[in-house]
Amino acid sequence: MIDLIKRLPKAELHLHIEGSLEPELMFRLAKKNQIEIPYKDIEDVRNAYNFTNLQTFLDIYYAGADVLITQDDFYDLTWEYILKCVEDNVIHTEIFFDPQTHTARGVAFETVITGIKRALADAKAQYGITSCIIMCFLRHLSQEEAFETLEQALPFKDDIIGVGLDSSELGNPPSKFKDVFKKAKEEGFKLVAHAGEEADFSYIYEALDLLDISRIDHGVQSIKSDELMQRLKDEQMPLTVCPNSNIELRVFDNYKAHNIKELLDYGLNITINSDDPAYFKGYINQNFINISENLPLTEDDIITLVKNSFRSSFISDELKQQYL
Ligand code: HPA
Ligand code: ZN
Repeated sequence: MIDLIKRLPKAELHLHIEGSLEPELMFRLAKKNQIEIPYKDIEDVRNAYNFTNLQTFLDIYYAGADVLITQDDFYDLTWEYILKCVEDNVIHTEIFFDPQTHTARGVAFETVITGIKRALADAKAQYGITSCIIMCFLRHLSQEEAFETLEQALPFKDDIIGVGLDSSELGNPPSKFKDVFKKAKEEGFKLVAHAGEEADFSYIYEALDLLDISRIDHGVQSIKSDELMQRLKDEQMPLTVCPNSNIELRVFDNYKAHNIKELLDYGLNITINSDDPAYFKGYINQNFINISENLPLTEDDIITLVKNSFRSSFISDELKQQYL
């Protein structure tokens, strides 16, 4: 099984590039940019990665992102993730970034996108890895601020395939961003949103009905509604599930308690992703391995999960045919 997981060419659809910042790079950039970080060594950092919910993670994740300043920093961050893709046989990846985390610190939108883009161009040239970029609005901030971010993204429209919604879910429902998602759609962006990670399934209904998204990030709380499960199945709406993340953020008590096998057996369009691999103890293969070691998944299940990722990706139909 592990051999199959490693061997299969995969697509990743839910990966926050800031969440791939390994402690080693964090230290190197902190030193170079003379940014203070609250850790004395790598071990100290790893010890701090002991989360009790989404917010306790986000506090540390945003603090870590402070070390990213120059275009080269974003290049290096993205390039290190690409090397993990090579290791894990990920041949297509759709990368989230959080522009507001950087623009709030005085780092220009252009600096961020240009660094990421340059690494992705090199990934294609050197390894044939294809990719898309999705920018996320931070949902703990206002819709007004999301509108400002959308405005900043317009000159880079050709580089950004879609918009998403992340950060603190509880208390920040999709309905808060209805107007900015409508505008993003009019501008031609594809739409996704984190929904039903920690918050209840009403957030998933809002994301579907008010934001008109074409993929749900996480979505594991859908299991609490039979009606929603039936709808997600009928529509074959993709769910980008992130097992390691769900365990590290205590959405489920342990891997055996994860509901991914039930979601899959019901007939939902489930995919496996790494979310914030530097913080959640592993990249995509480790996510596959952890669930396959703890749940009664078959080899056919693994193949279905991998195929679902390609069919739910934003690549052209032509490329999709080639990959499938
Ligand atoms: N949930 C919400 N926001 C995030 C996450 C997540 O899992 N990772 C990075 N930002
Ligand atoms: Zn996420």
